[in-house]
Amino acid sequence: MLAQSLFSELFGRAPLPGREIVCVQGLGFVGAAMATAIAAARDPDGSPRFDVIGVELDNPRGRERVNKINAGSFPFSSPDRKLNEAVEVASRTKNIVATTNANAFGLARIAIVDVNLDVESVNGAAPQVDFTGFKEAMRTLGHELPAGSLVIVETTVPPGTCENIVAPVLREELVRRGMPDDAILLAHSYERVMPGPDYFDSVVNFWRVYAGHNDEAAARCEEFLTRVINVQKFPLRRLGSMTASEAAKVLENSYRAINIAFIDEWSRLAEAAGIDLYEVIDAIRMRPTHNNMREPGFGVGGYCLPKDPLFAPAAAAIFFKDKQIDFPFSRLAVDVNSRMPLANLDRIDGALGGLKNKSIMVLGVAYRSEVDDTRSAPAETFCREAIRRGALVACHDPYVRHWSELDLAVSDTLPDPSSADVVVFAVPHRAYRELDVLPWLRDAKPLLYDCDNVLSGQMRSKLRAAGIQVESAGRGMGL
Ligand SMILES: NC(=O)c1ccc[n+]([C@@H]2O[C@H](COP(=O)([O-])OP(=O)(O)OC[C@H]3O[C@@H](n4cnc5c(N)ncnc54)[C@H](O)[C@@H]3O)[C@@H](O)[C@H]2O)c1
Repeated sequence: MLAQSLFSELFGRAPLPGREIVCVQGLGFVGAAMATAIAAARDPDGSPRFDVIGVELDNPRGRERVNKINAGSFPFSSPDRKLNEAVEVASRTKNIVATTNANAFGLARIAIVDVNLDVESVNGAAPQVDFTGFKEAMRTLGHELPAGSLVIVETTVPPGTCENIVAPVLREELVRRGMPDDAILLAHSYERVMPGPDYFDSVVNFWRVYAGHNDEAAARCEEFLTRVINVQKFPLRRLGSMTASEAAKVLENSYRAINIAFIDEWSRLAEAAGIDLYEVIDAIRMRPTHNNMREPGFGVGGYCLPKDPLFAPAAAAIFFKDKQIDFPFSRLAVDVNSRMPLANLDRIDGALGGLKNKSIMVLGVAYRSEVDDTRSAPAETFCREAIRRGALVACHDPYVRHWSELDLAVSDTLPDPSSADVVVFAVPHRAYRELDVLPWLRDAKPLLYDCDNVLSGQMRSKLRAAGIQVESAGRGMGL
């Protein structure tokens, strides 16, 4: 009865027979997109398959995310029209709502976990995972979810977390409630969501891996994913255990982080040897076995790649008590990637003959193109160090209005470059790739430093013909 009235309070109507209720725990970059994708799933007659409730923490950030969804808008700035429209439509048809009331889990047939989990390694020490908030989130589920519901963990975790932490916490809470300790089913399936222009499709039109605590959980997870994801084109992949599914996510991201870090030393060599590493990599990528080689860049940011490789050593130490596996590649990748912005800064420092009192204009502070996410952005490391060396830093980003990490207002109109000593093309936002640089510069002739292949070869030649020095990460001087 209580649950019925909470449903009516949230949706303004009674539950519909046959329409499953899904709760998404955590409305961050992943949870908000997943909630939207679930709400957008339709039966052949066009009616929504699910009623979706996004559940957040009752704090200023949580409330802001809840209010945005309830107002029919996606909580983050995104150029993806499909995603923005899907939230608006679901909000209009009233099959998505958001709340900070954790009692809402009492309504759910399925709960998707998209909360954050941090791992940190200070000065190369053993990575530490703080499970406090994550465990609390699992405890809430165990306390609230009805018998027969299914939990799908999407959060990236050290392999072994579902078996060693989530399952015991759920069991404990169920026993406390006087229920059978297996009354809730548990599965793991990780997101490959990619914020940016294809944000929505990166959830719905993309391959998925999953595994269950037992066969029933795996089958229920598969059934759910089949109703949300375009599995005809992107078949699901079931693994033998939840630990294997967790390991797949961590290995997948570690592989990419290591690939990026490996190219960094070659970028330095290319710069010293006076060659164009982009050209070299293009030639190598012709080999099908090498077609995913990474390229020189500004650095690695966002919530995943800078931290995920550390989950492997963390898992070995916490769950498998194996101190022999050292994961040198994973650790080194995290370290190299975090220092990459400084390698770019050092080169600019050298080209300008020092940074003291030099004006640096940074174009792009988000961690990647077409997103407003500044978490662990390379621009943060770059700007902090530039300021420390005495430079005056101005920033622009088409998506970021307030850079929370630096507590800085960021302009959305391209600043006047006339007083800049160097303009750094840091992020390949479309606005910069399509910028006609010469008219924008007018008479100014700052050094232009391209960290991420933002300027085409044609543009670089045009600028040089106008007497402007253009340099790039991964290319020798003047290339
Ligand atoms: N960002 C990506 O592109 C991406 C891609 C794939 C996987 N992932 C993984 O997905 C997970 C979530 O990432 P994110 O970028 O969305 O993180 P995020 O920090 O943006 O969002 C997490 C949200 O969970 C909320 N939360 C925490 N505890 C809660 C609780 N008990 N109840 C309700 N809400 C709670 C937080 O308030 C926050 O809003 C992470 O494990 C991440 O590694 C991220």
